[in-house]
Amino acid sequence: MERIRITSISPGTCVKQTIFSATGQKLLNAGVTVTQRHIDAIVRASGAIVYMAESLADLQESGVLESGPAAGAAASSSASSESETAAASAATTTASSTPPRPNRRALVVNQAMADALVADLHQRMRRMDLRIKSSSRHAKGNQGEALDPARLERLRKESVDHIRGIFACLETGTEIAHDELDVIVTNLLKCLDDCPTQFTQLALFDHPIDDYMSDHAFKGAVLAMAVAAQMNWSEENVRLAGVCGLVYDVGMLLVSNRIRTGAGQLTDTDRQLVRRHPSLGVALLQLIRPLDSLVQLATLQHHERENGTGYPQGLSGSAICDLARVLGVVDTFGAATEKRRYRESKLPYTAMEEMLQGTSRQSFWPAAARALVQAAGLFPVGSFVELSDGRAARVVSANPRQLDRPIVEPMAGSSACLIDLAQLEKKQLSVLKPIPKPRASFRAA
Ligand SMILES: [Fe+2]
Repeated sequence: MERIRITSISPGTCVKQTIFSATGQKLLNAGVTVTQRHIDAIVRASGAIVYMAESLADLQESGVLESGPAAGAAASSSASSESETAAASAATTTASSTPPRPNRRALVVNQAMADALVADLHQRMRRMDLRIKSSSRHAKGNQGEALDPARLERLRKESVDHIRGIFACLETGTEIAHDELDVIVTNLLKCLDDCPTQFTQLALFDHPIDDYMSDHAFKGAVLAMAVAAQMNWSEENVRLAGVCGLVYDVGMLLVSNRIRTGAGQLTDTDRQLVRRHPSLGVALLQLIRPLDSLVQLATLQHHERENGTGYPQGLSGSAICDLARVLGVVDTFGAATEKRRYRESKLPYTAMEEMLQGTSRQSFWPAAARALVQAAGLFPVGSFVELSDGRAARVVSANPRQLDRPIVEPMAGSSACLIDLAQLEKKQLSVLKPIPKPRASFRAA
């Protein structure tokens, strides 16, 4: 165990042990790469003096904790079994009739609080408009040139770092301004306006993932905005979809790493904990001010399904708000393209195929599923294909009217830079099949 000043840790350092407050509140998990936002959030929540230790027992043995840890003091302890225990025991507590207000320094989230907030949300929901109408937005963009990969990668990395900082605040029970989310959404919106048919490749970058939650949130925001734009929602509602995409799974911060990465078989208790994450997410969103109530509702309902097979309420069809219906499609497609400990990531084509199969089983809102295919293409932007002449190529742009005829960039060695397959006869050139990313370094011809 070591007593340190959190400000003495340089951003970019990977912490070897878990960081605790003097009251035993888990502030940062071992293995996390520290960002300036982590440091700021910890200072705001607990002050500068913290303890690096293997476990709470380590702290107690060292005499730091005089009377044991402060039960449930943190908003979350994402990788701990303690959070599961706290959530499970809290679920048996009687909910109060009035939704609790968050403490400015440390929000205590438990199932009772979440249940009370959800009950309040259900009351307010009666006055909400769950439908989002199409408008005459979005006909912008350059369809022919590939977006600069360096620009895209920069945008992705900056956004993911920003999200990681936001989640670190939420985990330590620290309020954040909605502006923090707005900055990310504004940058994404600019990219979407610049090139709508290439935008979704931001969600399919092949890169090492060091923080599953922030990467998943970024992917959610990109895909939700792409679908919303494809459905001709107003700019305001495309922004709203982006905010929802960033935070809809935030309740998973309160579920242990072991469960959320699916390292092994889940027990019934594990599954119960997972099924609580939409309502726990509603509670965590109390920390974001101000926040549209529709974001809370979409978070609560993102696992509801059109045919009533979802959770937590088993709602169906129009009882689900449109934002949550979009998130259902986005989450299913996005999650399939993510690697899990028990499986490799699926090819974007396979993920799209599975999502469409789910649509035929009436799990998903057909309008949102169609919009995702139109935005990303049947062979999604950023994925790789084999062409009928034997060349490997990267898909750089979707053709919304010819989903199987995208614009592609062949591997180095070709004489062409970009080929718009929609401009050629099928017998001249077509996509043969989707393939994994080629091992050879890929360079535009
Ligand atoms: Fe979820």
